Amino acid sequence: MTKEQIKELITTAAEQLTYSYVPYSHFKVGAALLAKDGKIYTGCNIENAAYTPTNCAERTAFFKAVSEGVRSFRAICVVGGPDGRLESYTPPCGVCRQVMMEFCSPEEFEIILATGTEDYKIYTLQELMPQGFGPENL
Ligand code: THU
Repeated sequence: MTKEQIKELITTAAEQLTYSYVPYSHFKVGAALLAKDGKIYTGCNIENAAYTPTNCAERTAFFKAVSEGVRSFRAICVVGGPDGRLESYTPPCGVCRQVMMEFCSPEEFEIILATGTEDYKIYTLQELMPQGFGPENL
């Protein structure tokens, strides 16, 4: 990824904070998922009064893409914070990491955690999900 691509993903993920539906936690999360064909799929977290149906921003982005026939991904950027204030990194939860394992190469897929375009860290899925279980294990 070029620096320009990284910055675009961060900016796009941050824009999704506007759409987060978080009446319970007030913790807004935005995601921007870069497909291998160059298209960016966006996502926000969507909470629910019954709590467990809540969908994380990352999974919203993945499911939007997969539901449109896209299954090859390069990277995802995740940003979040209380009321949308980007005070620290928001690493993907375990369930979202597992969804990434389904569609992404652990060695190649990159996860960008950011608080702004000048402050970010990039991890491979392998780093965030060592010894993860995926389709290869079946
Ligand atoms: N959340 C995400 O959207 N992504 C993550 O990876 C971490 C957690 C959301 C779920 C819930 O709406 C709020 O953050 C607080 O857990």
